[in-house]
Amino acid sequence: MGTSKFVEEINRRFFNNELSDKFQAELNKIPIDRPDVFAMVERMFGYIKASGIPAQDMSLLLGELLGSLLARILPEAWEGRVPPVTVAGRHQAIDRYIKSNQWIKPAKKKMLDIGCGFPPYTTIDTAQFFPEWHITGADPSLPQYLVYDEVGNYATFDKNKSTVYFQPVAPTIENWNVLLEDAAATKNGFEKLLNELINAQSESENGLPRLEHNPIQAYETDNLTFVHGGIGQIDIEAKDVIRCFNVLFYFDDIFYENALTWFCDQLQEDGLLFIGGNWAVSSESYYNVYQKKDGQLINRAFVFGLDCICPFGIASWYANHDDDRQTAELVKYVKVIRQDNDFLNRFYKIHDAQRLKYGLCPRDDQGYYGALDSSITPEELWPLVGKMLEELNEAGMNQEAANVLQQNGFNARINGVGHIEINF
Ligand SMILES: C[S@@+](CC[C@H](N)C(=O)[O-])C[C@H]1O[C@@H](n2cnc3c(N)ncnc32)[C@H](O)[C@@H]1O
Repeated sequence: MGTSKFVEEINRRFFNNELSDKFQAELNKIPIDRPDVFAMVERMFGYIKASGIPAQDMSLLLGELLGSLLARILPEAWEGRVPPVTVAGRHQAIDRYIKSNQWIKPAKKKMLDIGCGFPPYTTIDTAQFFPEWHITGADPSLPQYLVYDEVGNYATFDKNKSTVYFQPVAPTIENWNVLLEDAAATKNGFEKLLNELINAQSESENGLPRLEHNPIQAYETDNLTFVHGGIGQIDIEAKDVIRCFNVLFYFDDIFYENALTWFCDQLQEDGLLFIGGNWAVSSESYYNVYQKKDGQLINRAFVFGLDCICPFGIASWYANHDDDRQTAELVKYVKVIRQDNDFLNRFYKIHDAQRLKYGLCPRDDQGYYGALDSSITPEELWPLVGKMLEELNEAGMNQEAANVLQQNGFNARINGVGHIEINF
């Protein structure tokens, strides 16, 4: 099926043909030869519909992320490997939550951050946030070599000098397009540069292009070490806390279940496990909290940020398999909250005014969420999204959403970092 036929069909099936023309034009950029992107968008639309999100809330930014960015970041773009995509500051709220949670005492702890990504920005943030703790980062894709080209785009390589991943100096869609217009050529170019730099006698004066051997070592400190390997693969001493974020949504539910067994074996009695997903500045955070009691994992809570009910990005629905238990759970709560019209009207009143004030996809004259103000840079966008969530929480909208869940029989409350927490 061609892209335009696909867009036509999902518009009909999920949105009663109500998606705006501009949104459809963004979706029509999905490359015709990428069935994985088609499948992902279709799955996401299923979640969006089930959440009760209408066509009018599908912003042009969302259209751009689905139509252009997805094809860059899904595993199929990387020969089936999970890309090590991460962003500094992504887990700030999660770190604060771990510190303030009611189940463990704030003593010296040992923590594992598994699937930490590379460069391991979030693990570094955590080691700095918990200077008394010892943090171990682990990932199967930690590179043997790292090469920066003459402008600062980088590529990572395994021990066979084969490219694992590359990324533009600033990961905007335009910069990605330059590198991915001919991905094979970019890969070959980086591999050629690696061989040149290995044989080079001297370094360039401005540090670009540059080669780093076993680059993860440079990030190690007194309280931060790294291990090469993934879930079920590494040999470590038992930990008090394990964090696994933005990893399990790439796998099916059998993998998730097996991972829980392995995590349980790696935890001390009373130890905590945090599994979830999110995006920059802890936007669209959602996570389960498990605790090891009498040798078994107990599911303590499911937690999410209020922005998951009307997200700017795609993290809330980023499930790569139909049986993703966390996305299904998130959708269940979002649907209940969105069905409360009194709540929703109050939410939209504040949120639509915020979008207008900050120029972040405000409604157009037909009532559709539109585009970003062109003066907003990629660096400014997500901090503004984070600020809007803070403002909504300060206005008490998170508590109101928790009240809606309570009225519907869920044991919901607001936790120490403003997230909506359902306790089991
Ligand atoms: C999207 S990144 C997430 C990075 C970081 N945790 C974050 O939240 O920003 C996903 C990471 O999962 C890693 N990964 C893939 N398979 C894995 C496995 N079986 N066990 C642990 N990590 C895995 C990938 O190498 C990749 O670095």
